[in-house]
Formats: sequence, C-alpha cells, structure tokens
Amino acid sequence: MTADGRELESLSEDEARVELARLHELLSAADRAYFEKDAPEITDAAYDAMKRSYQALESAFPELKRPDSLSDKVAGAPVEGFAKVRHAVPMLSLAKAYTDQDVLDFIDRGRRFFERDKDLDLVFTAEPKIDGLSASLRYEKGVFVQGATRGDGAVGEDITENLRTIADIPHKLAGSGWPEMIEIRGEVYMTYAEFQALKARSAAAGGQDYVNPRNTAAGSLRQKDASVTASRNLKFFAYAWGAASAEPAATQFDAVQKFGEWGFRISPLMVRARSADDLIAQYKLIEAQRASLGYDIDGVVYKLDSLELQRRWGFVTGEPRWAIAHKFPAEQATTTVKRIDIQVGRTGTLAPVARLAPVSVGGVVVENVTLHNEDYIKGIDSTGAPIRGDEPIDVRVGDTVVIQRAGDVIPQIVRVVLEKRPADAVPYDFPHTCPVCGSPATREHNEKTGKEDSRRRCTGEMICPAQAVERLRHFVSRGAMDIEGLGAENIELFFSAGLLRNAADIFTLRDRRPEVQQALFERREAQAREREAAKGISRKKVLTAEERTYEGLDKLFAAIDAQREPELDRFIFALGIPHIGETTGAALARTFGTVEEWVRAGKETAAAEDPKSVFPSVDGIGGTVIEAMVDFFGNPRNDDVLDALLVQVRPKPYVVTVSADSQVAGKTVVFTGSLEKMTRGEAKAMAERLGAKVAGSVSAKTDIVVAGPGAGSKLKDAEKHGVLVLDEDAWLELVAK
Ligand code: IVH
Repeated sequence: MTADGRELESLSEDEARVELARLHELLSAADRAYFEKDAPEITDAAYDAMKRSYQALESAFPELKRPDSLSDKVAGAPVEGFAKVRHAVPMLSLAKAYTDQDVLDFIDRGRRFFERDKDLDLVFTAEPKIDGLSASLRYEKGVFVQGATRGDGAVGEDITENLRTIADIPHKLAGSGWPEMIEIRGEVYMTYAEFQALKARSAAAGGQDYVNPRNTAAGSLRQKDASVTASRNLKFFAYAWGAASAEPAATQFDAVQKFGEWGFRISPLMVRARSADDLIAQYKLIEAQRASLGYDIDGVVYKLDSLELQRRWGFVTGEPRWAIAHKFPAEQATTTVKRIDIQVGRTGTLAPVARLAPVSVGGVVVENVTLHNEDYIKGIDSTGAPIRGDEPIDVRVGDTVVIQRAGDVIPQIVRVVLEKRPADAVPYDFPHTCPVCGSPATREHNEKTGKEDSRRRCTGEMICPAQAVERLRHFVSRGAMDIEGLGAENIELFFSAGLLRNAADIFTLRDRRPEVQQALFERREAQAREREAAKGISRKKVLTAEERTYEGLDKLFAAIDAQREPELDRFIFALGIPHIGETTGAALARTFGTVEEWVRAGKETAAAEDPKSVFPSVDGIGGTVIEAMVDFFGNPRNDDVLDALLVQVRPKPYVVTVSADSQVAGKTVVFTGSLEKMTRGEAKAMAERLGAKVAGSVSAKTDIVVAGPGAGSKLKDAEKHGVLVLDEDAWLELVAK
C-alpha cells in the first residue's frame, strides 16, 4: 500500500517512481536522525512499515530499483571524525518476524531449502536481541588490537580507545584455544540504572537531557575523549564473529560458549530449540523477563545452529537467510491523566501535553504524552472521523488511558478506558488565548482546503516570549537580516539572560556590552562544569579577567551594525509575519517602495472594515496575506516593537536590482517536484533576483532543472534534452557561489 492507501499493483510506473523517491527520502532522513544524530524522529514501527513498502515497490517494479537502493545497504554511515575501518566480513542486519506465522514461515523456508536432506534435524538458537549498538573487536594472538562500529555494514569507525574503556571487553582473551585472529562481534549497551544515574548527574549540572539508553550508549561511544566513554559504564554482550583465522566451533551455540570461556559476557538466556513451537516458547519466556532485565531488548533472535548449514543456506542482500529477529510488539501500560498543559511552540502553535501518573513502559518511565491538537483531544481527525474506536472518544483530566511506546521512543495514547472515567470528569476546554502572553489563539482557515487548521495559534507574534526566540532566529537568518555571528545558541542565551526580548533589542546589545560578556562567560563556565561532571571530576579554578574577555564580541557588534540599513524586502520578510515569505516580502516592497508607505498601508488595512477594499491589488497577494497583515498590524504590541525597531534600523527604499555576475545570470531555470527549503514562489524570486529566467516547462533552451522529490515528466524531458539537473541543495550551493 502507498501513503494514500492505494494498492501497489494499481500504480503506473511513473507513480511508483515518485512513491519510491518519496520513501527513499523519508527513510534516508530517518536513518540520518537515528544513526548519525542519535536522535530518532519516527517510531521503529513507522520506519519498518515504510521500509516494507519500499521493498515491495522494488519487487513490483524491479526496473525502478535505484543504484543507491536502501535495501542493499545497512543504515548508519560512518560519521566524520573517526578513522574508517573496512570490515573484512560485512556486519549484517537481520530479517524481522512480527508474528508467530512469520516464524513458522521462516522454519518452513529452511525445511524447503534442505528438502533433499530428509533426515536433517534443523536446530536453532534463540537469544535476546539487545537494543544497543553492534561493535566488532579484533583480537590478534589473543590481544585486543582494534574495535569498530558497524557503520553502514561495510565501513565503520575506529573507536578502539573508547571500546577499551568497557569493562566487559577483555584486553587479552582468557583461557586458550582462540584462533590466531578473530573479530568478536556483539552489542554495546547501557543499563537503565546507568542511564538514570547519568540523567540525574546531567540535570544537577544543568546539562543536556538524554532520550533513551540506546541513543545515549551510541553518543557515549562516539566521544572524542575516551574518559567520557569510561564514565558512562557501558556494557557488552558477545554473540557473533566476523573474520577469523579458524572457526571458533562447529555450531553457533558452542562458539558463543567459547566466547564466555575467553572472558566475554554472553547472554544467559540463549537456548537451543528444534521447532517453531520451542522457539516461540523461548520468545515468551524472554518477553516475560524483559522488564526485570535492567536493559532494553527489542526481540528474540533465532539463528540456525550448525555453521555448515548456515553456509549452505547463505545470504540475501545484507541479511543472512539463516537468522531472523522476532520483534516484541510495542509495549503498553495503563495510567491516568493528571493534567493537560499547553506548550507554545516555535510558530505560536498551542501544543497540548497530557501529564500522566508516571508509569514504566518497557523499563522507561513515561510521564508526558503529546495530545497533538484540539481535535485529537476530542477524538477526531481533521476530517471529523473518530480516531479512537467507532465513536469520537475524548481525553479528559482524570481519565485512565492505555499508552504505548511505539518504537520504544515516542509514547502515545492508544485508548481511553471509559469504564474508569470519573463521574465528575469534564471535556477539556481548549484555551482560546495563549497561556504565555495572553494574546488570542485562533484556528486559521485554510483557503485551499476550505477547512480550519487543526492547530490553534497564538496571535501574539513578536510579543509572545515562546515565539520570540524562534522569530529572532528567523529575523537574523540568511535571506532575512543576515546577521552573522548571532546564531541560534547566542539568541537563546541572550534571551534567557533577559538581554533580548524582541528584534529591536538586537541593535542595542552594544550598549549593554558588560552584560552580554557576562552571559557568554557564564555559559562557558557551565559548559566546562558539565564536561567535568561527565568525567567525574570537580574544578576549583576561577577564570582570569583575560579569559573573561570575549574576543568575538566586537565582530558580533560590527555584524549587527552592518545591517542597520537593510533592503526593504529583506526587512519585511525578516519580521516573520505568517504567510509573508521572501516572494511576498519582495512583492510588498515593490508595491509600497518605502517602509513608511508599507507601515501606513498595513495600519490602514487593519483599521478598515473591509481590508480588501483598502489594500491595493498586488500581484501574488491574496486574502490569506491580507488577513495576516490585519492580524499583525491590528495588534498594538506588534506596532510598539516595529516602532522601536525603526528607531534602530532604516530600511532602504526598494529598487529593482538584478545581479549580473551570479552563476545563474542569463540562464533559463525550471523548478519541478517539491522543494523543502523554500516555496516555489521564493525559489522563483531568488532566481530572478540573480538574473535568471524562470520557465514553466523544459525545452532545449532550458539550462538548469531543479528537481525535488516527486519530480515527474519534467525530469524526463530534462534527460531527453540533456539539461543539467540539480537537487535543491546543489541549486542553493550554486547560487551561493
Ligand atoms: S546477530 C549475522 N544477535 O541486531 C547476524 N544481532 O538487526 C548478525 N543485535 O546489527 C547479528 N542482539 O546490532 C545478533 N543476539 C543478537 C543481537 C543482535 C542485538 C543487533 C545487532 C545487529 C542487529 C541486526
């Protein structure tokens, strides 16, 4: 099935290509978030479902399989900074089973494969699937010489020094009988106890929060400073091997027992089994112990025991045929809703969060769960259809709810236990004002769909502290005011130190130099303390006056001063008024010419009974933008900030300029597919500003096609005419030159 619920067979080849491209993007982004940033963005279940659709598409349309197919590679490319290690024997992933039937099918496949050997007794091992990171440890003459991460399966990172700090990894093998050379493979993980202790230490030092043990173990292993890894007390289970000068044993089971004799920790829960029933019985046994193990496991791995038969059964791309991971279903638990809080998001969105009586789900304590939006609380989706059962069932304070940690990361409410609803529980009254700044919070009417937006947004804009930081970040960003050196970190710091409340304050920072310096100094101190707390040492040293000076400050103030006379279109765009992007900003600047005229028109529009009658007809500006102007200028507090800003900043009158020396001047460009970093309109305005001509279709005269995901026939035309095709990033790189 595709995202819009259609059967694969009904897709045309073009549609399949688009769907495959879409899934490729999503899966790649999920891989990057999970493996490189150690911060998963989607649930394992969602990931697995997408991966299955991706593979199904590939088998239904083999000619569409891409050379960079994700099916052929094991995710988790090496990150920069550590030396690369090519694995002599690749580190594979495992096929997955979700149901008992999947396990029966696996065994059946084995039986069929070995059909001719009538008397063959197929024996399997069953052992926990540890939720950590795999590592490969090379021993030469019994001495640990190199350790690597899995990376993308073919190439990993050399993290020898970090692995050496793990007590479960012997520097020298014990016992005897080990091969001259062997790569022992297994899982590095963090126990719950260690995870909780680290969280507590970090909270005390004002440091970062940690999401879950797995990602924390991953982060701990990638430390540049091995003493930080050492302080995390990671653990290791040995369960497999890679290259070896001699086979460690004749069976999987015996090989792992040998690892135990050589000084490794091995899972006490590994057994041999002869039938699907026995394997499933062991699965249930391990599942029953899951919560008391003290570390995360996410399933049970079955492997064919005989190494001889493993060799015969062989591999499919990236996975052994002779092994399978039987995953546990998402864990559920029952708890109660104590409170519903509203958090104000970056764009002013009011995000409801249910505060729960703490409950352990799979060993991790869950106390909060997102309620998404007003409709979700009512139990309906954006079309008004019920989302929990046949009838719309709302979530109330006092309710008993079943929660689930899908993919072990993001908890969600799956069910409300109506029988336990207290008699005095009332439907939740979603606020119509922003809990942070008190401005009205409204649901926008989406002109295109004709529906109300599911999110309620604070209209406080520039005066709402919750939105302020994000708006400030937008204000200084490239394309807007472009103030170098005032990055997100500094904005957050100055905001929390009370030095920045709104955009006007940026231009008076210079007058408050000592306070700015103090804030930067305190951050540096806090970071140093955090690093030391992580290493378990304390420090008495006080920074000298010299160390307190912050040499970047003059540069920062100079960068701010350099933008006191911005172009009008950038200035309007920088204000971050909803629906006023670069293109609209430019259209408004073109129309009104000066900031005074624009502000006058804005105020007049806001005051008018029929705003549309006042507003001149401007190409590309419709009702949504006019409404946004009315909201903005209709809020006197926005006026105050704008007035203060205009004391500091003098936007230049708008003059049409075309940059003739850009890389794309004089070229004809076509945009196709979806763009992620800018709207079509913005892309067009940017290209035109740089002297390019933007066309709607591809011909022999086209110079460049910029293709985003979902690009269709225009991409084909480009190939036909031999036109240069760039993705969005490559385009942005080109125009930045
Ligand atoms: S065996 C050739 N055994 O699961 C098979 N893997 O999805 C190699 N894992 O990368 C893997 N516990 O990180 C195996 N008992 C276990 C495991 C296990 C956890 C992880 C490992 C591997 C991934 C495969």
